[in-house]
Amino acid sequence: MSPHLTVPSRPARRVPGHETRLYLAAHPLVYPLMRLLARLGPVVRVPGIGVVVNDAATARAVLMDERFRKDGPGSPGDLWTPVLGPSVLLNMEGDAHTALRRKLAPLFAPAQVASLVAEVLEVPLRDLSARLAGGETVDLVDEMRLMAGAVICRLIGMGEVSPDDARSLFADGERIVSMVSLRSRGLSERQIAAARQVLDRIGDIAEAAYERGEETTVMGRMRSLGLSAAEARGAAGAFFLTGTETVATFVPRLIALLHDTGTRLDGPGDLDRAIEEAMRVTTPTPVMLRSVAVPARVGRVPVRPGDRVLIVTHNCARAYGPFDLATRHPPELRRIWFGAGPHFCVGYPLALAEIRAVAAVVLSHDVRVVRRRAARGVLIPTYAHLWITAGPERTGTG
Ligand code: HEM
Repeated sequence: MSPHLTVPSRPARRVPGHETRLYLAAHPLVYPLMRLLARLGPVVRVPGIGVVVNDAATARAVLMDERFRKDGPGSPGDLWTPVLGPSVLLNMEGDAHTALRRKLAPLFAPAQVASLVAEVLEVPLRDLSARLAGGETVDLVDEMRLMAGAVICRLIGMGEVSPDDARSLFADGERIVSMVSLRSRGLSERQIAAARQVLDRIGDIAEAAYERGEETTVMGRMRSLGLSAAEARGAAGAFFLTGTETVATFVPRLIALLHDTGTRLDGPGDLDRAIEEAMRVTTPTPVMLRSVAVPARVGRVPVRPGDRVLIVTHNCARAYGPFDLATRHPPELRRIWFGAGPHFCVGYPLALAEIRAVAAVVLSHDVRVVRRRAARGVLIPTYAHLWITAGPERTGTG
């Protein structure tokens, strides 16, 4: 990484409207409603939607409290169990969940993910850097799909991953994730069948790698860690659904935010701060769901078994203002965009390793955004294209 990361220095502006435009393009009706709810207080009961949480401290309290579960009515389990199976972390609770997390955590140890990322991204990052150095205009969205797709392909046990494999796998994942809307309570029979078809393919790749049992692959290590073939299949599906689009959509948004605010970074420490701050503003996972298991209170609002709690992470995080590297992240906010408590993102070290690796290479050039387009019909707000180039600014950019 270059010791001195720079983006063109401009006077810091505090109103980058592009992020809002991404949210509006993805969710033209729901996003204005979601932001309106933020003004109604920390916790609001909304008929037909559930109990909505807009405040980081309350959100953290819910995430840390076992009365709010991921496996009851209205929980993520409702959405994903029919396609992923019953035991894939994100729809589990209690001892079985803890035991599976304990088995999977070593796979995401920082040293493991660093070597996975370095190996898989070495060639794509060298190419990207050369294209930027050569003055090409590059679509960072497409590049990120390729890279995040390649990392997940390798994680689930594919050997050599071609760019076409990576892109096609990314498109499959995006199609499944986009079946969910912010109002979804479940998938239709047709959606379940379509999602299963893709996930069966992922499961077959994963299971073959598991059977080969090579210690150098994640699937092989799952076997030696004592996971069953079914657990390994399920984990591969869960990683595929949660770990591709989240990372791929984030990096272009990070680079755009730095460009739009004229933020200058002075080294790796600053890059980490910029990543955290851009996570806060973008919240790639804008909401988290829980199902109420026993009578309780969320903030001051009483809740009953079967109630759905919708944590609007985006509102919780945006309450601390627009993108600004100087924004302090108080303890209640700390990385809430990756969750908190027993379900805290198990892939966090991998996400960070990928994001750091790509952002460091991109920002080692004097990059600027030359054109962009917001994506429509997606769950995670993102750019459909973000064209960047390195070098001195010409007129008519932005
Ligand atoms: C920018 C990238 C990412 C973001 C923002 C993100 C965000 C999150 C959040 C908010 C949760 C908790 C959801 C809840 O409690 O309801 C979560 C859980 C999870 N994430 Fe990530 N994630 C990212 C990348 C990844 C990657 C790269 C992987 C793996 C390859 C991954 C795998 C998972 C899994 C398996 C869970 C479920 C954990 C459990 O329930 O115990 N995520 N993620």
